[in-house]
Amino acid sequence: MPLFKDLLQSADWKAEKHVPVIDAPDKAKKGEIVKISATVGKEIAHPNKTEHHICWVAIYFHPEGEKFPYQIGRVEFSSHGSSVQGPDTSSVYTHPEASLSFKTDKAGVIYAASYCNIHGLWQGSKDLKVS
Ligand SMILES: [Fe+2]
Repeated sequence: MPLFKDLLQSADWKAEKHVPVIDAPDKAKKGEIVKISATVGKEIAHPNKTEHHICWVAIYFHPEGEKFPYQIGRVEFSSHGSSVQGPDTSSVYTHPEASLSFKTDKAGVIYAASYCNIHGLWQGSKDLKVS
């Protein structure tokens, strides 16, 4: 039986529109609020239609030396053009960007996961140094 982790796809975000791109500082002071945003389609726009869109982004932090990551938060993108008239008939399309904040006393790795309703699960990551 395949493992769930094998379903998480990754690639260079400059060439692959599904990868969540993490925008966060390279380093922070202990206890300082760290602002993170994760955007899908930063370099190459991902479609945002009723039939093809990004459903959610979740952001995690894995502190150095710890066994498990922590989920910082998860954002659902709920509007993709559907209305009572049918698919792609509204003027509302949620942009696939998640912004969250957290603090930590340890360095580690920020991870983001995204889910496309057609093309599945994608991941991105970024190191965070803490002093
Ligand atoms: Fe897609």
